[in-house]
Amino acid sequence: MSHFFASIVPWFIAAAPSRRLRCVTLSVAFLSVVTLAAAAQTPAGADLERLANGVRVHRGDQTMEITTLRDDVIRVRSWQGTSEPENSSWAVLPEALRSTGQATPEPAGFSTGKLHVALGPGLMFTVTDNIGNILEQDAEPMVCRGTDFRIYKHRTRDDHFFGLGDKPGPLDRSGEAFTLWNTDQFGWQESTDPIYKSIPFFLDVRQGRTLGVFFNNTFRSFFDFGREKADEYSFGSVDGPADYFLLYGPTPKQVLSDYAWLTGPTPLPPLWSLGFQQSRYTYSPESELVEVDHRLRADKIPTDVLWLDIHFQKNNMPFTIDPECFPNFPQLVKNLAADQFHLVVITDLHIARQPGIGYDPYDSGVAGDHFLKMPDGSTYVGTVWPGPAVFPDFTQQRSLAWWGSLYKPFIAEGIAGFWNDMNEPAVFNTPTKTMPDDVQHRIDMPGLLKRTTDHREIHNVYGMLNSEGTYDGMLAARPNERPFVMTRASFAGGQRYAVTWTGDNSSTWNHLRMTMPQLMNLGLSGFSMAGADVGGFAGSPPADLLTKWLEVSAFQPIDRDHSAKGTRRHEVWVDGPAQEAIRRHFIEERYRLLPYLYTTTEHTAHDGVPMMRPLFVEFPEATTDGHPFDLEAGGSEFLVGPDLLVAPNPSPEEIAPYEVHLPPGTWYDYWTGERFERAAKIATRDLEQRDQLHSVQPLMITPTLDALPVYVHGGSIVPIEPLTQSTEETPKGPLTLRVYPATDRTTPCTGEVYADDGHSFNFRQGDYARVNFSCALQQDGSMTFTVAPQQGRFHPWWTEYRLEIYGWTPTRHTASTDSSKLPLTAAGSAWTVSFPAKPNGGTVQIQ
Ligand code: GLC
Repeated sequence: MSHFFASIVPWFIAAAPSRRLRCVTLSVAFLSVVTLAAAAQTPAGADLERLANGVRVHRGDQTMEITTLRDDVIRVRSWQGTSEPENSSWAVLPEALRSTGQATPEPAGFSTGKLHVALGPGLMFTVTDNIGNILEQDAEPMVCRGTDFRIYKHRTRDDHFFGLGDKPGPLDRSGEAFTLWNTDQFGWQESTDPIYKSIPFFLDVRQGRTLGVFFNNTFRSFFDFGREKADEYSFGSVDGPADYFLLYGPTPKQVLSDYAWLTGPTPLPPLWSLGFQQSRYTYSPESELVEVDHRLRADKIPTDVLWLDIHFQKNNMPFTIDPECFPNFPQLVKNLAADQFHLVVITDLHIARQPGIGYDPYDSGVAGDHFLKMPDGSTYVGTVWPGPAVFPDFTQQRSLAWWGSLYKPFIAEGIAGFWNDMNEPAVFNTPTKTMPDDVQHRIDMPGLLKRTTDHREIHNVYGMLNSEGTYDGMLAARPNERPFVMTRASFAGGQRYAVTWTGDNSSTWNHLRMTMPQLMNLGLSGFSMAGADVGGFAGSPPADLLTKWLEVSAFQPIDRDHSAKGTRRHEVWVDGPAQEAIRRHFIEERYRLLPYLYTTTEHTAHDGVPMMRPLFVEFPEATTDGHPFDLEAGGSEFLVGPDLLVAPNPSPEEIAPYEVHLPPGTWYDYWTGERFERAAKIATRDLEQRDQLHSVQPLMITPTLDALPVYVHGGSIVPIEPLTQSTEETPKGPLTLRVYPATDRTTPCTGEVYADDGHSFNFRQGDYARVNFSCALQQDGSMTFTVAPQQGRFHPWWTEYRLEIYGWTPTRHTASTDSSKLPLTAAGSAWTVSFPAKPNGGTVQIQ
């Protein structure tokens, strides 16, 4: 028996029981098993069409095309008859969509250099790596019912699934099933599905090998990770193309970077968006916002951003300002800027249907024919905050441009950023909470076929297009400023235009806990700049909950305190000086860490690895059998950038001690500098034997209100700046470099700092500064600290470095550069030495 035939026989048997009463595709596929076997022996056979970048296989009237875009990216498309779907995507970048790799023919399929595709019966196939590990394998032929279809893949007990956007629930999505249909879910809970976003991308981590799957379909879609059938996972949709991309690692980081290549990374944000942000539904009248401004500064709570919610508008009409509550808006914006605040205002997409009153967004929208219509040609009207409202057709390029132009007056007044809410879109007067399926979208966009389609196809991308229009409008008005947009609804690729948040969460301990897996999964889905309403939106947090929330959020990408109308106030000071002092301390720490956080965002903009990341992303080999280390750590621990590990209480309301699991290696307590050794995992599945090994025992933490365990990975150098009250303030003093040597002397420690003007695109022309640092422990017990020459021509604010060295003891207590001796001082558990920062770098010897 040929190798190929041998491989399809077990498949044929395994797939047999579930093959009745399904679509044409299925029965034809079933009949063709033997034919394909024969064709595979003569690959040039009629059924297998070889392409330079892959294959096309025809079975009856079904066609499947598998092509390679690059060595580690494969695309699969399937269609019936002559209805080859439009080769387009709302998510995939045009360059990626056009790219084409080289396929080397193999008897049963082809290889790409990194991957092998082997065709089986029933238009099924298997993808393996170069040493034969199965990365993905069809479990049964694609199931179709009318336009509805579902793709089934084998699932093993070792598969762990991550991503899929903002879905609540555990970090690992195994055993769960989800629907993608953007939905306004006020007060969503742990098992609520769907919620605001549709990000049809997930990572499958199987025995340490990671494969990413992006499903290029915008209709209502479904993902099942072993809930329907324990040994299969599946995805499908009610309509649209069967079109998906497979992104190979084997490391999670490689898959994240493939996905960033496919759909674009989260771009470098303005520095101020990493600062603390204060919002509420709603600060109105103006005096309330002014009070918040003054109190934040008087109480020395570092803050960068203040937000205005819907009641700053007249009758909730987007793009208006209520003249009674905000009588002198331009002056208000100026005063806030003088106090070093950036103002972000809400601009929902529902335009009030208010003809004849001089409301420009409505009048110009009607004049330009920019609103969505029903099949009979009438304009669609739905009720939202302003009452009856009309909705832009963001699928038309010219309407997108018109939407962007609405921002000009606000931008001219100095508003720093915009908040696109309710863009699922939310509609109050329909049973579905959104617009009817038959609302018409007149697609007219570069890269897409000009055609009219209904809302079923556009619903899930509508919010993303809304934020794209806002982003482009900001860019058109201020071409050299990085736009800041926050969106609630989005689709894959939406990270190119906007940051996001998790919508209307609640003021409960469980919601605080849920921020961890939710923000990590958003990061793995491309949205690195994400946050949750700090303190919870719905409800009133007790004092301790708000404090704990402010501690954790200080280490999350977007740190925005927001609350609903009618709830008790959430600002940092509301629970008295003792609580305020703890909260201030954590916000201050965030500000000190800004050089590290900003450097991390700059990396994300290239490699797609999110700021807040699960442990398995940095430590894919931390467990002997390749399962993600996070499962051991309980799903609450997270990394900020590559080196900081934050370990909040997985049951935050509990007072009992909890376990913190650190990946193997050397770790330091971020707050005290104390050093821990976590020996490499021993290669045994014998749990008893493993538990006896003291060094892999978890740390036991007794929770206290004022503490959040944070650890630093040995081998890292973390840049820290002097405290400021806003990123608009220039830090005064040296750039501190906290040095955390690695376990073994031969491993150098490394770190980096990136800086630029924080707001423009000048960095693209070389106006940035990147400095790499390293330390090496020498045989004689001394340490050599090296500052590499600065890259880029930007002049950063610091002129001096101050080393803070942990976990290492000098023998002679001296430090020197080539030309001078430097004082070495003990400070707590660290040794410190300062020296001038020179563009050409230099070396310091410490012994
Ligand atoms: C939605 C948003 C919330 C906002 C409110 C009023 O519920 O999710 O953040 O405050 O609308 O605009």
